[in-house]
Amino acid sequence: QLMKVFVTRRIPQEGMKLLQKASMCDVLVWDSDEPVPRAELLEKVEGAHGLVCLLSDRIDAEVLDAAGPNLKVISTMSVGFDHLAIEEIKKRGIRVGYTPDVLTDATAELTVALLLATARRLPEGIQEVKSGGWSSWKPLWLCGYGLSGSTVGVIGLGRIVPLDTLLRESDFVVVSCSLTPDTQELCNKAFFSKMKNTAVFINTSRGAVVNQEDLLEALTSGQIAAAGLDVTTPEPLPTDHPLLRLSNCVVLPHIGSATFSTRGVMAQLSAHNLLSGLTGDPMPSELKL
Ligand code: GLV
Ligand code: GLV
Repeated sequence: QLMKVFVTRRIPQEGMKLLQKASMCDVLVWDSDEPVPRAELLEKVEGAHGLVCLLSDRIDAEVLDAAGPNLKVISTMSVGFDHLAIEEIKKRGIRVGYTPDVLTDATAELTVALLLATARRLPEGIQEVKSGGWSSWKPLWLCGYGLSGSTVGVIGLGRIVPLDTLLRESDFVVVSCSLTPDTQELCNKAFFSKMKNTAVFINTSRGAVVNQEDLLEALTSGQIAAAGLDVTTPEPLPTDHPLLRLSNCVVLPHIGSATFSTRGVMAQLSAHNLLSGLTGDPMPSELKL
């Protein structure tokens, strides 16, 4: 008897091929680049043994109940798992696969790109060139902060970071930790108030690690110099959001892992995780629940 697998989005071929050639599976895909509507998800997941999902899919008790007792494995094509209701999943004895490690380089590169773009004001410069605002070379125009000799504090390299010292001393504060109850709105008014007025804040983890109102205030009051965000709350940010009107805030559309090769490897790993879960074998990357 075939095992039903639901894939919540079109994913890279490298992963799809593996799923489709697995003879034990009947694979159903939401064949679109856009998210599956919630009602469709609840309907399509019914009776599934396996679910391949993305960080934009909220997998909660409602989805698990809609899937029913067949569901053995959830494989998310992401390193983050804050979109999964872990306690509910655990209660039902479902295994979870995810994709750590394979996207580390791509995300680190994007972090550096975003940091430089923010510190050296690249989006503003590009805009001036396009709009004709660039009239001549000017000694005081579009100056930013250089990397050379600066101190970079990374939140998320390990648990033992004396946070106050990091905030006080860093010229660049980079947030790359995962979102947990401990890190929810970690970056709030008190946090920003400890940073240098010349410091640049970078977030490539999850939007909810930041109290966005407090960040907005820190950016408009001059408490901090600038922010570069690959993640926001919500995603996408409404186009009339005040953060998008600030010249000292650079916002990207959550593209940390977006290289062709990284996304291919993530899809492949998601497929391997799912198939191993279905056969009851150890997964290449299983989340310890
Ligand atoms: C990206 O944000 C991921 O969790 O994979
Ligand atoms: C910059 O191009 C310089 O010549 O100073």
